[in-house]
Amino acid sequence: MRQVAVIGIGQTKIDEHWDKSLRELAGEAALAALNDSGLDRIDAVYVGNMMSGSANHQQHLGAYMADWIGMRGAEAIRVEAACSSGAASFRTAVMAVSSGMVDSALAIGVEKMTDSPINEITAELATAADAEWEAGNGLSFVALNALIMRRYMHEYGWKKEDFAPFAVNAHANAMHNPFARFHSIVSVEDYLKASMVTDPINLMDASPTGDGAAAAVVVPVEKLFTVNAHKVIRVAASTAATDTLAVHHRKDPLFLNAAYNAGKKAYTQASLSPADIDLFELHDAFSIMAALSLEANGFAERGQGPRLALDGEILIKGRIPIATRGGLKARGHPVGATGMYQIVEVVQQLRGEAAGTQVENATTGLCQNIGGSGSNIITHILTTASSN
Ligand code: COA
Repeated sequence: MRQVAVIGIGQTKIDEHWDKSLRELAGEAALAALNDSGLDRIDAVYVGNMMSGSANHQQHLGAYMADWIGMRGAEAIRVEAACSSGAASFRTAVMAVSSGMVDSALAIGVEKMTDSPINEITAELATAADAEWEAGNGLSFVALNALIMRRYMHEYGWKKEDFAPFAVNAHANAMHNPFARFHSIVSVEDYLKASMVTDPINLMDASPTGDGAAAAVVVPVEKLFTVNAHKVIRVAASTAATDTLAVHHRKDPLFLNAAYNAGKKAYTQASLSPADIDLFELHDAFSIMAALSLEANGFAERGQGPRLALDGEILIKGRIPIATRGGLKARGHPVGATGMYQIVEVVQQLRGEAAGTQVENATTGLCQNIGGSGSNIITHILTTASSN
């Protein structure tokens, strides 16, 4: 297996992009990444996306994007793993380059959600859950997470206000990210009076829908002679794991088993431990998912995720900064693109390009993208270190 490096990144602002088509949006991020890499040809294009068939009436995103960005002839496919489609496209690129099957790959994550009414998008998001057991009984994604959060509060004795620091931190960090969906400071008071979506999840516990695309170019470390002046960012680990599709089929719905397994494999692959991680771009689609992700990846004891947040340990200068560019909560969550935003943001941090929220001396970043309610988890560790 060859070691792999990220040599180019690109992203669009997350917004309601009614003036741009799906390919224009994805193309903007892809061409920015290619330009940043210094390459003018790549062997393969992998496009992560969840819902373009229904939301944009466009499938076959591999050839669609290769054609649009002038890479006609390159092999190209779409990769789908619900909300972890973005990380799945990056992992596909890493596997292809690492195996020696291709010498350069472009991973794109794209989602265009706001052309459709929210009720259609809510139904579409629910297709990532179990159609017979969950969605078929009326459960939306917000509702599934509300059930998990309510049980968690009951089991561990947390109050609603104990989850406020997740939204406060994400919104504060997004203020410095020009690509973020929201640029608004949120206080604990704002959190507490936000409108309820599905009790106990209010608007400030939930990530917003949105349109966006992010992309990265990867090559084998041994071929870095092609590279521009950027600091070399290596992929130290790329792992994935699944859990039951339906939440109620789990022995313990309050532990993200797949996140734990993907994280454990990643630490082993990179020969690192949680103590070596300088920042963590986690999947804070809902504040309860942020808490559970911190626990599953070894940063907090079970049931103690909110403690870390209340103690300020998730802030830029804290023990484990999270959502450093706004996270899903405030940077936004265009579902199939999110995993690629996480990769781009960790690369920015490791290059020292995260103005306003730079984690000082960051050399190693973890990102974890969750598909479904914890059912399909993809984890990456990126590092500036020369070998693991
Ligand atoms: N956080 C903060 N503000 C939000 C927000 C969020 N998550 N979602 C919407 N807003 C704001 C909008 O900017 C808008 O503000 P404005 O009136 O000042 O312009 C206002 O709230 C209403 O926005 P709107 O787009 O009408 O919201 P909505 O009711 O259609 O959707 C949710 C709100 C929470 C229901 C929707 O964002 C949602 O379903 N989120 C979860 C998505 C999801 O499940 N993703 C998959 C997770 S794995």
